Amino acid sequence: MSGSWLSKARLAATVSAALTCLAAQAPLAQPAQDSGAGAAPVAPAPAGVENAQRAWQNWTLNCQGCHRLDGSGSDATAPGIAGTVAKFLLVPGGREYLIRVPGVATSPLSDADLAEVMNWMLWRFDKEHLPASFQPYTAAEIAPLRARPLRLEASQMRSSLLHQAEAAAAK
Ligand code: HEC
Repeated sequence: MSGSWLSKARLAATVSAALTCLAAQAPLAQPAQDSGAGAAPVAPAPAGVENAQRAWQNWTLNCQGCHRLDGSGSDATAPGIAGTVAKFLLVPGGREYLIRVPGVATSPLSDADLAEVMNWMLWRFDKEHLPASFQPYTAAEIAPLRARPLRLEASQMRSSLLHQAEAAAAK
């Protein structure tokens, strides 16, 4: 009967629509693949990062112009931070320095978004030097630090801290 044929066809269409829908959703259920430089962040997000996608976007809009998408930097703009930035956390004053550098302190991001970008950046670009005891930056910690941005002293403080950090990292 044509009626039964129709209902079978309808059932088949419904099942096939449901399968298509499942297939479309399946890739989203997989953790995002880290396809290298500049790729969207991998899941799961590290401590102190509520939304890794947002952190990555904020990095892209506010930081990568100088530091490059992959954190490699360039002689003309900013030092590379990939593979080095977390070393600053190994020495006294380094944690504060990372927030007081002008590019960070004077960024247009809110304290909360900036804290998130910093936590994401340390993990994304230098997790191998991130101390096990690392406590994520918070908006409350960042606010008073960024109120005192480094000026001309930034580059001298940078070389002195980096020198100590390299020594600490080599231990
Ligand atoms: C206008 C270019 C510029 C922008 C934009 C910028 N930076 Fe920087 N950044 C620098 C330079 C140059 C230094 C080296 C210190 C100095 O002399 O200021 C630096 C240093 C740093 C450091 C300290 C690490 C080191 O090796 O000295 C961190 C961390 C950092 N930047 C993160 C960021 C983040 C996060 C953003 C975005 C919110 C950002 N920067 C935006 C230019 C920039």
